[in-house]
Amino acid sequence: MRKTLRIAVFTSGSGSNLQALIDSAQEGHLNNAQIALVVGSKEGIGALDRAQKAGIAHCVMQKKDFATQVDFDYNLLMHLASAEIDLIVLAGYLGILSQEIIDRFPNHILNIHPALIPSFCGKGFYGMHVHRAVYESGVKVTGATVHFVDGGIDSGAILLQECCPIAANDTPESIQKKVLAIEHDILPKAVKAFVDGHLIWQDTRVFISETLED
Ligand code: GRF
Repeated sequence: MRKTLRIAVFTSGSGSNLQALIDSAQEGHLNNAQIALVVGSKEGIGALDRAQKAGIAHCVMQKKDFATQVDFDYNLLMHLASAEIDLIVLAGYLGILSQEIIDRFPNHILNIHPALIPSFCGKGFYGMHVHRAVYESGVKVTGATVHFVDGGIDSGAILLQECCPIAANDTPESIQKKVLAIEHDILPKAVKAFVDGHLIWQDTRVFISETLED
């Protein structure tokens, strides 16, 4: 019997990706996992209301409330330990985790990025900044990526990607809408594969067993 993995979801915004995970769990797709904690990067964000409605424990961890990074990390680790967290999922989280946190969860931190890494990622590429850059570049496809967090910015092993076409009449806003729909689809799929033990590692590359060609 597989252990039920306890997940902490980190978020900074409306929480639509968190909601996709909550809905997936409620539909019975994440039976080997439980969303045990939501960590908001600031007060008053929609994601915290969604956690409240779903009866999920939640807290706010704001860097400005702590004198040092060490204090922040210590308090965050206390929250994660008391919730017995196994897997961290960054879902629209704008903070940067310290190496201290990343080292405590080796290949157990997933992030969703609203572009096809390694394109349109790294410092400054978040939210609408990504979709404006995609629009300006004239690329014909974009999409979203679920990847492991390894201490760089958007640089860990890529687990799952899905793409969508960009049409001449697309705008940064219409691109964001298309990509967000993809995020809501692939994040629960990636988390499910992880908690079901369906990952296949090949050195630094990782695949989901259901996606392997026959
Ligand atoms: C969105 O820009 C999404 O593309 C990115 O985080 C932002 C907020 O997402 N991953 P959410 O609605 O808070 O999940």
